[in-house]
Amino acid sequence: MIEQLRQIEEEALRELEAIEEEDRLEAFRIAYLGKKGRLTAALKGMGKLSPEERPEAGKTANEVKSRLSGAFEARKREIEDRKYGAGQDLLDVTLPGRRPIRGHIHPITGVTREICHIFERMGFRIVKGPNIELDYYNFEALNIPKDHPARDMQDTFYVSENVVLRTHTSPMQVRVMEKQPPPVAVIAPGKVYRRDSDVTHTPMFHQVEGLLVDEGVTFGDLKGTLTAFAHRIFGRDTDVRFRPSFFPFTEPSAEMDIRCVICGGSGCRTCSQTGWLEILGSGMVDPEVYGFVGYDPERVSGFAFGMGIERIAMLKYGIDDIQLFFRNDMRFLRQF
Ligand code: FA5
Ligand code: MG
Repeated sequence: MIEQLRQIEEEALRELEAIEEEDRLEAFRIAYLGKKGRLTAALKGMGKLSPEERPEAGKTANEVKSRLSGAFEARKREIEDRKYGAGQDLLDVTLPGRRPIRGHIHPITGVTREICHIFERMGFRIVKGPNIELDYYNFEALNIPKDHPARDMQDTFYVSENVVLRTHTSPMQVRVMEKQPPPVAVIAPGKVYRRDSDVTHTPMFHQVEGLLVDEGVTFGDLKGTLTAFAHRIFGRDTDVRFRPSFFPFTEPSAEMDIRCVICGGSGCRTCSQTGWLEILGSGMVDPEVYGFVGYDPERVSGFAFGMGIERIAMLKYGIDDIQLFFRNDMRFLRQF
């Protein structure tokens, strides 16, 4: 057996030495090293050997195999180097290049980061919380009682009686305040869920919540902060307006609109012919909410806001259908 292996090796090396062309190399590989090659055939005879002979024969077989493979690779490189020039990869530099597809972040992620960055520079800290939320944080502690229309099955995805998919990022107000004493300045980006679907509404969308509580915070601070934000994200000459509104957890409350960038204010389907697009709800934190987190409403005051990230992205990029963000159509996504 050992003798036979040595003989195969000797013959193979001699044959290899004589090979000059690439296609004969492959024939050699098949004849000696392939699945049906001579070396494999010899190894199959191993089973017939006695147990004492087997280890020695096995060792020799492995050595022969590795020497032959090594010699084969070396010969192959020699032949290739002669043909293409030493040290070169097999690369035809005259072929036209193939442009690699460059990935980039989703426009919603990009706008979220931009919003967060603007508030971070104003001194707000980023916090995150659960999408699956207790009724207590989503509604109860925000002064939204059991019979409030916002709790309607029409608007809210219920997981169970006391658990919902959060309908807004406002539960983060309560989660943050119950963990730390004032002063507080945080923003909380994330996904929210509502039973809602048309050109400006999707069942899942993104909000950024903001909360600032300290001594002596006024409605003027709210307006100043949000107007400064709008000017940073949309440009200095952007028209904004505040409209009186109502939220159970703020008093007084206001919504901020941006002049519709699709129609320039003349009215279109995106702004429902009003010329304005609502981007956020806001207000002074209701003293009722402080009661749930143990803050003293006699000593501190503050404001909160919650904005729709898709709305902001639509205005920023002049997109008239919110659903485009979630269809994953590469023709749309590649434009950012
Ligand atoms: C709220 O969600 C309040 N939590 C905002 C708030 C926070 C008020 C803090 C006061 C203090 P509203 O339901 O209006 O409010 O939603 C806020 C923003 O989310 C809207 O201005 C809009 O930009 C966006 N939005 C609301 N529903 C959808 C939807 N289905 N699809 C996309 N964006 C939406
Ligand atoms: Mg609203």
